[in-house]
Amino acid sequence: MEKILIIDDEQVNRVMLRQLLSKEGYITIEAEDGEKGIQLVKSERPDIVLTDFRMPGMNGLEVLSEAHKINARLPVILLTAFGDVALTIKSIQVGAFDYLEKPFNATQLKITVHNALNSVRLSNSLNEVIYNTVSSSNMLDDNILVGKTPAMKEIFKNIGRISLNKVNVLIQGDTGTGKELIAKLIHYAGITRNSPLVIVNCSTLTESLLESELFGHVKGSFTGSIRDKKGKFELAGDGTIFLDEISEISQNTQVKLLRVIQELEFEKVGGEETIPMNARIIAATNRNLEGLIKEGKFREDLYYRLKVFTIDLPPLRERKEDIRDLVVHFLHKLNKRFNKNVVKIGDGVLDMLQSHDWQGNVRELENTILQAIVMSKNDVLDKDSITLNIRQQQQQTGAVAEQAPMRQFRSLADVEKYHIERILNEMRWNKVEASRVLDITRPTLNAKIEKYALVQM
Ligand SMILES: Nc1ncnc2c1ncn2[C@@H]1O[C@H](COP(=O)(O)OP(=O)(O)OP(=O)(O)O)[C@@H](O)[C@H]1O
Ligand SMILES: [Mg+2]
Repeated sequence: MEKILIIDDEQVNRVMLRQLLSKEGYITIEAEDGEKGIQLVKSERPDIVLTDFRMPGMNGLEVLSEAHKINARLPVILLTAFGDVALTIKSIQVGAFDYLEKPFNATQLKITVHNALNSVRLSNSLNEVIYNTVSSSNMLDDNILVGKTPAMKEIFKNIGRISLNKVNVLIQGDTGTGKELIAKLIHYAGITRNSPLVIVNCSTLTESLLESELFGHVKGSFTGSIRDKKGKFELAGDGTIFLDEISEISQNTQVKLLRVIQELEFEKVGGEETIPMNARIIAATNRNLEGLIKEGKFREDLYYRLKVFTIDLPPLRERKEDIRDLVVHFLHKLNKRFNKNVVKIGDGVLDMLQSHDWQGNVRELENTILQAIVMSKNDVLDKDSITLNIRQQQQQTGAVAEQAPMRQFRSLADVEKYHIERILNEMRWNKVEASRVLDITRPTLNAKIEKYALVQM
């Protein structure tokens, strides 16, 4: 019979866990603090440890690390009271088997314990535990990934694991689902965090420019190349190269990229010297690569090289439970940026946001909140300050469409003109900032300014 060690400073919790677990046929032993718990790990050799995170004396992460000094393969499950992503990532990084967020139900506990025991049985497939002393880095604080839905939690765990192994990762998800944010987290959460992160958007460059961008070129290799240039692979060193919109690279570049991945070296365009490639590749796409492979547009061999590990980001409409937390997160983030103090959410606002279908996903939600904050006159995020994407609203019927604000405008062009003008004014006609907020390129913004004859007042 398997033995489970329960470490929790609160007696009620220990009793509750003991009852649930003994009903499942496990033997339980208990400790009221980390020190005593570690003694029991030594003397009793439990099969699993369930430990509270916040306790007087040692906290759960310290227990984890001490327990692993005694037995590196002992599954430790952390019980945590917060939906704290940084802690989650960190606990998985330092080798926790899993975590359970309080309050959890009997089924969750059962499944987690069951999985942990299974994993011991199949322990041959477990990675060696790598000790890592990352203290919560600023990058983690800046790039908070919000999400409590099961799919997002699974992604957090995977980020923790991947960040410690330099495998190539393919991130798939619709536009605005957070692919770049995930790439940054993988880079900054683990072993690559002190090395460069280099981002290349594969869709914005022509074939030859992209190649010289990736691999660099030597002077005179093509018209206009007046000096040697280092490519992104070289600049990434032993860090990360993030290839965004990977589906857009040409067949030729695909062949070259495949070669780099296979041989771990490359040459500059027009150059002869061989340069080693040590970077981890994270690729992202919002197109279905398997479909493109069937159409003969994307190489299957390259696909498999890139997707050593895959992260699939669900669209926002499939994780509506996260909308509230995302709104709160964006209010915090954007209040700070714009020196505003919108700290309340008005009646019906969450319902309204949850019934929208968010074609533009989290980015669209962020922009919606941003516009509302910029427009706000008090400390409330209310329905009237929110402009949902009108085109989508018009496609919808019924109650939601009824709520669409700005009905007084006639055409989409009117709305667009008004909106662009408003953002430009808010940004004091700083076009870089305005195009960022509007999520369009500078040339597009300029074209719109001309089209609508907008002038700075
Ligand atoms: N889960 C999340 N928690 C908090 N912020 C998020 C989350 N997902 C996305 N964001 C924010 O939403 C915005 C869009 O995310 P990001 O740029 O990573 O999306 P993307 O998938 O790369 O989009 P695209 O396909 O258009 O390039 C960013 O400001 C990002 O910080
Ligand atoms: Mg992106």
